[in-house]
Amino acid sequence: MGKSSKDKRDLYYRKAKEEGWRARSAFKLLQLNEQFQLFKGVRRVVDLCAAPGSWSQVLSREIYQKAKLEDTKLESYIEPKLVAVDLQPMSPIEGVTTIQADITHPRTMNKILSVFGGEKADFVCSDGAPDVTGLHDLDEYIQAQLILSALQLTCCILKEGGTFVAKIFRGRDIDLMYSQLGFLFEKVVCAKPRSSRGTSLESFIVCIGYKPRLGWKPTLELDKSTEEFFQNSGIGRAQLNKNDLSFPLEERIIAPFIACGDLSSYDSDATYTLDKNLERLSLDPVQMPTAPPYKTALEMKRRGNMQLAVRKK
Ligand SMILES: C[S@@+](CC[C@H](N)C(=O)[O-])C[C@H]1O[C@@H](n2cnc3c(N)ncnc32)[C@H](O)[C@@H]1O
Repeated sequence: MGKSSKDKRDLYYRKAKEEGWRARSAFKLLQLNEQFQLFKGVRRVVDLCAAPGSWSQVLSREIYQKAKLEDTKLESYIEPKLVAVDLQPMSPIEGVTTIQADITHPRTMNKILSVFGGEKADFVCSDGAPDVTGLHDLDEYIQAQLILSALQLTCCILKEGGTFVAKIFRGRDIDLMYSQLGFLFEKVVCAKPRSSRGTSLESFIVCIGYKPRLGWKPTLELDKSTEEFFQNSGIGRAQLNKNDLSFPLEERIIAPFIACGDLSSYDSDATYTLDKNLERLSLDPVQMPTAPPYKTALEMKRRGNMQLAVRKK
């Protein structure tokens, strides 16, 4: 397959390279923002699972760069602080503090809060996706655990009234998650940006107006179960006495579903013809992977060790 054929099959992939975004996902956050005005009044932001960094680029452009135009002497001025966290190292982005860490580890929370000088975040987003194993049940389980970890971390670092946006896959039990989120946020919407392929189950939960239950002090600890974490949070089952087995059925709700992105924007499932002048011009990625899993194999091949390793087997 030629380099430009992917550009035609997926115009967002091509547009990302033309506009300087490190990944096509940038358009998802831009379209979510168009619909929900996510960045309005936002100063302290956490981008979880951020590498290679296209969401952080959007946040830098929309929050950090725009704040530079403001009068810093005004009393109302608050310096923007953006933090990006990922397991992978990230190349620098202007105005963004990058932290290489695991979002499932309790220590990561303190690293984030120290950038904010102890203050809480206005906005947390997570586009997390674990490496797929190909075992669908296991992949679905790990993905669900990653969302729960992002949510738990968010409960500890988001200020009241703040917003949380996370990638989800609309699997079997997603209605249960909507109803649980409904205990923690004023409004929960399931949104599908036009740049997210219609053929994929990927969507984004947009949770607006964080409202932790009065007196609930969420804390992250190693070996603490999700159920223990949410004890006293007001979420259905986590409230119940473990010895009481007469669980009422948990309420399952369908969150409102919003397709966002202008109708005039590109359809991510359609194939387009490229501009005649651009057709032959293949574009390199904006940012090469910093630590791809195939890096060791490439180094071994370069040193001529690859065949030795195969022969030894
Ligand atoms: C789809 S990519 C994110 C793309 C990013 N939003 C962008 O716009 O460039 C998913 C990321 O999740 C990260 N990730 C997966 N599990 C993680 C974890 N436990 N802690 C931190 N990052 C994680 C992966 O390293 C990967 O970079």
